[in-house]
Amino acid sequence: STKLRVSEALTGAEVGADVKVQGWVRSVRSQKNNIFFHVNDGSSLKSLQVVAGAEMNDPLLTFGSAVEVTGILKKSPHQKQPVELEAEQIRVVGGCNPVDFPFKIKERHSLEYIRQLPHLRCRTNAFSSLLRIRSEATAAIHSYFKDHGFVQIHTPIITSNDCEGAGELFKVEPSGPDFGDDEEFFSVPAFLTVSGQLHLEVMSGAFSRVYTFGPTFRAENSQSRRHLAEFFMVEAEISFTESLKDLTKVMEDMFRSATERVLARCVEDVDLFHRHVTPGHRDTVEAMLNKSFPVITYTEAIDILNRSSEKFTFPTDWGCDLMTEHEKHLVKHCGNVPVFVTDYPYDLKPFYARDNQDQPRHTTAAVDLLVPGIGELCGGSLREERLDLLMARLKQVGLEDNYSWYLDLRRFGAVPHGGFGLGFERYLQCILGVDNIKDVIPFPRFSHSCLL
Ligand code: 4AD
Ligand code: MG
Repeated sequence: STKLRVSEALTGAEVGADVKVQGWVRSVRSQKNNIFFHVNDGSSLKSLQVVAGAEMNDPLLTFGSAVEVTGILKKSPHQKQPVELEAEQIRVVGGCNPVDFPFKIKERHSLEYIRQLPHLRCRTNAFSSLLRIRSEATAAIHSYFKDHGFVQIHTPIITSNDCEGAGELFKVEPSGPDFGDDEEFFSVPAFLTVSGQLHLEVMSGAFSRVYTFGPTFRAENSQSRRHLAEFFMVEAEISFTESLKDLTKVMEDMFRSATERVLARCVEDVDLFHRHVTPGHRDTVEAMLNKSFPVITYTEAIDILNRSSEKFTFPTDWGCDLMTEHEKHLVKHCGNVPVFVTDYPYDLKPFYARDNQDQPRHTTAAVDLLVPGIGELCGGSLREERLDLLMARLKQVGLEDNYSWYLDLRRFGAVPHGGFGLGFERYLQCILGVDNIKDVIPFPRFSHSCLL
């Protein structure tokens, strides 16, 4: 017999063949003469129905158990299931006591409930769909960059700089008998990266277009639905970028291209979210893809907030940071589609953002992409490539000693350049309508929680 994945068996192409299928039991039903059960192996949301004679029943064949079934694939009389497997042999590979197993047959468990079981939640329909979508979205993003001439760079996880200057760093230190308390392993303080941007800026000076897609770490104390201590970021850096328009085009194209591919290739998995988790979200996503994303300046955004009748918790004076409540309002104001906000106050953005040199409201060429339900999805900017201005800025923030290499990039063949970072988990929340960021990453890490 040929070994088949459940997804292959379900195509119907192998009807009549003698096959072997391996997976986990998703439902069992016994009748007088027959038993029916479904096998899922993670290759698709759908499971394969197995039909067997009652004499083949095994007390260990229960919901959650692991099985190997050999038999003949048959065309099924039921519309919903085009094929079924007529079992000739059933082997229970690993039993699963239904009393102890935390998932119960035919029950729909909430995302909150399954979140408490990080070692088992991939056995549920919702979370296995999520992880297949996450995998496809990852591939789609890599394809987008590959198709557009970007070189992927593996930026380091351990670094000695704080790119965002926000001080939300995790320190990296050795632990073990070989290292004294006062000894520094790297001879300098080292941290887990908060962003690969500075390393990408190095590489953009040789490859013009580079990107990275990997884990980033922030010691945020916030218990919000959109913050994690470990999250994945997609970052791109592009040389010879003269205006924010060049950047927003890449951000928008990438969003569109990845989303369209995920919708086309993960139809059933996405449907589970759009029908059962957040009914109606499909319309929101289609609206997002329907027209180009509006662009407003920070100053316009502040005007919109101040003209609105909504009472905000946080101030909306010019110069104040946009908070989630403000971001959500702006998205609604613009028709519940993603919206770019550009030209933030100079004092709100990190040292690398390019000075617009305007007065009296001093701004930088920075841009955020805000999306429905979440707020900030991407942050980016043109980078200050002018040596004198960059030196002055580093001095102002007290960093001039740490960044001589960064200044070198402005001395040796500097070009106007810019880039952005997209929070990958927030992206998944956005296209699927998932409320809590902890439900879109395999093993969430956040303050007071590092399970497994
Ligand atoms: O806006 P941020 O801080 O930008 C940067 O780090 C730039 N250096 C990126 C660049 O230009 N190369 O972070 C980028 C995005 C945010 O817009 C947000 O979507 C996500 O990363 N993000 C988080 N996602 C989950 N949990 C957190 N704690 C996050 N912090 C930022
Ligand atoms: Mg940001």
